[in-house]
Amino acid sequence: MDRVNSGIRPTGFLHLGNYFGALRNFIKMQEENECFFFIADYHSLTTHPTPLDLQSNVRNILIEYIAAGLDPEKATIYVQSDVPQVCELSLLLSMNVYVGELQRVASFKEKVRRQPDNVNAGLLTYPVLMAADILLHRADKVPVGKDQEQHLEMTRDFAQRFNRIYKHEYFKLPVAYNFGSELVKIPGLDGSTKMSKSDNENSCIYLADAPDVIRKKVMKAVSDSGPTEPGQPKTQAVENLFQLMKAVSSPDTLQYFEEQYQNCAIRYGDMKKQLAADMTAFVQPVYERILELREKDDYIRKVAREGAERARESAAKTIKEVREIIGIKPF
Ligand code: TYM
Repeated sequence: MDRVNSGIRPTGFLHLGNYFGALRNFIKMQEENECFFFIADYHSLTTHPTPLDLQSNVRNILIEYIAAGLDPEKATIYVQSDVPQVCELSLLLSMNVYVGELQRVASFKEKVRRQPDNVNAGLLTYPVLMAADILLHRADKVPVGKDQEQHLEMTRDFAQRFNRIYKHEYFKLPVAYNFGSELVKIPGLDGSTKMSKSDNENSCIYLADAPDVIRKKVMKAVSDSGPTEPGQPKTQAVENLFQLMKAVSSPDTLQYFEEQYQNCAIRYGDMKKQLAADMTAFVQPVYERILELREKDDYIRKVAREGAERARESAAKTIKEVREIIGIKPF
């Protein structure tokens, strides 16, 4: 049985990008694999959330994981900081990671650009902690979106390096995985190529958005003045609308608007109305479960407690073996 591991940072609510990039895969994967899904709260500290925000964001993601279809009976769902063994593995791996290679990571360079006043060491070592998350459970597959591809490559590098240095084929080399074939990148409603909470709140559709909120956001989505000749290439903003439609609408609907576009007869207002309706239909069952689960505090706590126990068991085994391989042994 393959082992699957993935995480999401608790920086707010889950959006459709998170869902299609990672979560949809989890749900199918939990049936046939041994799955560990966690909330990467240590990772989220790089942006310095307040304790109150951190607490409520962790709770939100826990609820949204379950509402979206993760089943605590089938998969282990846990909070990263409930399994502090990950810090030890991160430390041990970091001894064989070079500062130069961390400085070259695309997500690090981007953070340096975005938050020049907060280039903390946690940002630099972020890929090491992420590798530790994955290797801690000796995962084979990691369901993630396209933006995490480089981090997965690094995880394989670190795992391979460990195996080579200690002459022991201990870690498996995990692969980034998305249901279907390609890793996905869901675009934003604001014309940006990636739906992201750090850019523009209105570019994201959250799983916890009420139907009227979804409609308002979609109707305000960026488009353009429309094609003037058949076969005209789409602008990024319009391409985004089509990609979003591909994610949530039926193939017939998509084809209809594609033809309208090609014939220069498209009315973006109509397209957005359809997209809003399809998104609402898609999100609604999850949205309703979110509202229900918000009332079930005892259940949510129980899921986190039991998940933490199972994850710690798996982690303790790896740490014990890694220590032995390295030569950290009790006298
Ligand atoms: P994070 O919290 O930024 O995003 C969580 C997951 O959602 C995916 N994602 C997207 N996929 C497609 N289109 C989008 N617009 C989009 N936006 C986000 C991400 O690819 C990710 O799969 N470093 C990770 C968290 C992490 C992790 C791990 C993941 C920590 N340790 C171990 C896997 C395994 C992150 O910041 O994801």
